[in-house]
Amino acid sequence: MPLLTADPLAGYLAHADEIRAAIDRVLASGHYILGPEVEAFEREFAAYHGGGEAVGVANGTEAIELALRAVGVGRGDLVATVANTVTATVAAIEQIGARPCFVEIDAGTMLMAPAALESLLSARRGEVKAVVPVHLYGLPADLPAIVALARKHGAKVVEDCAQSHGARIAGRAAGTWGEAAAFSFYPTKNLGALGDGGAVLARDPAVAAKVRLLRQYGWKQRYVSDATGRNSRLDELQAAILRVKLRHLDLENQVRRERAARYLRRLAAAALRLPAVLTGAEPVWHQFAIRLPARDALRVYLADRGIQCGILYPVPVHRQPAFADPATQLPETERACAEVLCLPVHPAVTEADVDRVSDEILRWRQP
Ligand SMILES: Cc1ncc(COP(=O)(O)O)c(C=O)c1O
Repeated sequence: MPLLTADPLAGYLAHADEIRAAIDRVLASGHYILGPEVEAFEREFAAYHGGGEAVGVANGTEAIELALRAVGVGRGDLVATVANTVTATVAAIEQIGARPCFVEIDAGTMLMAPAALESLLSARRGEVKAVVPVHLYGLPADLPAIVALARKHGAKVVEDCAQSHGARIAGRAAGTWGEAAAFSFYPTKNLGALGDGGAVLARDPAVAAKVRLLRQYGWKQRYVSDATGRNSRLDELQAAILRVKLRHLDLENQVRRERAARYLRRLAAAALRLPAVLTGAEPVWHQFAIRLPARDALRVYLADRGIQCGILYPVPVHRQPAFADPATQLPETERACAEVLCLPVHPAVTEADVDRVSDEILRWRQP
């Protein structure tokens, strides 16, 4: 059996009875969009994060867009983020008519570097309206430093938590540091639906209320728009499935942690760079991202042996045709994108799988 880089089918089968019961409940309820399951999921997801309000939306991209709009970002505003992310992070900024600007990453963690953020915020004094740090690979970014810098420069923080459900830093959950946080429930995520889904988490009820308004045509009252909103609704089936999956999230994240710890032990002597975790961070290992210059050769070698690895992400956003920005120079980001290789680490990966992958990597000879 090939070892997959992500396995949403295994994620379904692990909880199939509970998920089928949840689906049956929704089918028989007569409510299919924004009903009692969405409301219950929103309450449970907020409670999981120790409070605030969660608002279910259609996907993670729109969660970022609506969170940014809800904290006051508008047309022409500058929004700082990283370029080693899925283009969705940047597409959400552009959707508002705001302008993305990129912050260099830390060479060790591959996450937004606070020092680089400080330079940008100082150089563009008062212009940057919001910062979108990405907790990439389930590794929390340095939110204590990033939030302090943003406050100092009058910028809001919207955390991109698409890959970090359940992660913590300095004892506090990712998603509770900024003015708002955006989550994706794409099926391969740590908390994955069986279709598209997303949520915004906010402590300020006014921010949550704004997202609620924007996610359905700007309606406060049915058929009367108070704002130019859009259709970004979460459906009842996905919410009911997410309620099941949320109950298992901590255990599944624990399995990911154990597998990651095993990789770290087994690959300690390998000729590659292992993931670096910030002091005080509790990652949830959405990916286990190693680095080596010959990653393409290793990827082919492992694929030939039935081990599928991912590359998140091969081309940084500022070098992609749709977003190309030749003036932007981000050497650490470009190096990371050229070297990164993500090993299978999802909850269906066994200890024996980790040993097999590690043995193959240790046996591999660089061309
Ligand atoms: C870091 C990051 N941001 C944003 C998104 C966008 O989420 P979605 O695909 O649900 O729109 C994703 C998911 O692919 C992601 O990994």
